[in-house]
Amino acid sequence: MGIEKWDARFAAGDHGPADPAALVVEGSQRLSPGRALHLALGAGRNAAYLASQGWSVVAVDGSVEALRLTKARASVLLMNLERDRLPFDDETFDLVCIIHFLHRPLFAEAQRVTRRGGVIVASIETTRSKMNRAYTIEPGELRSIFGGWEILIDREDETARVAAKKRY
Ligand SMILES: C[S@@+](CC[C@H](N)C(=O)[O-])C[C@H]1O[C@@H](n2cnc3c(N)ncnc32)[C@H](O)[C@@H]1O
Repeated sequence: MGIEKWDARFAAGDHGPADPAALVVEGSQRLSPGRALHLALGAGRNAAYLASQGWSVVAVDGSVEALRLTKARASVLLMNLERDRLPFDDETFDLVCIIHFLHRPLFAEAQRVTRRGGVIVASIETTRSKMNRAYTIEPGELRSIFGGWEILIDREDETARVAAKKRY
C-alpha cells in the first residue's frame, strides 16, 4: 500500500518543544486511556505525553525525520495525509489529535475512525494569525466541522481549539 510502518521505541531525540499542547492534555484527561491516533505528529511531544499517561498511541506523519525524533512508545506510520485515506477501520480510536496541521478532508477521516464516545482534539491557526493563509482556517470554521458532535472545548483567538465528542 506504499505505507511504511515501524516501531518507534528505538527512536530518541531532544528536538522540538517538550511540553504537550494544553488541548491534548485537557482533551485526553476527559477519557480513560485507550487507543489514540495523532495525525501530523511533529517532533512527538503530544504522543510522548499520551504514552506516558497509558495511552496506546499510533502516530502518523509524512516525514521520516519527524517520526524518528519521537521519544514516544508509539507505533508510527509514514504516510501522506494529503493524499491517502487513513488505513484504519471505522471507529478504531478513543482519541484523535490534529494539532497545527490543516488538510480539510482529513477531518472527515478523523471523524470516521473515532469511536462513539471518543474525542477529537483539533487546534489550527485562524486567518486572524500571522500564519500563511494556506495553513489557516476561517474564524468559526473549526467548530462548524463538528456539527452533530458534543463540543467539550471551544476556544478561539488567533488559534481555534476544539475538543469534540462523537455522540452515541
Ligand atoms: C506543525 S507540525 C505538527 C506539530 C505537532 N502536531 C505538534 O503539536 O507538535 C506539522 C507536521 O505535519 C507534517 N506534514 C506536513 N505535510 C504532511 C503530509 N502531507 N502528510 C503527513 N504529514 C505531513 C510535517 O512533517 C510536520 O511534522
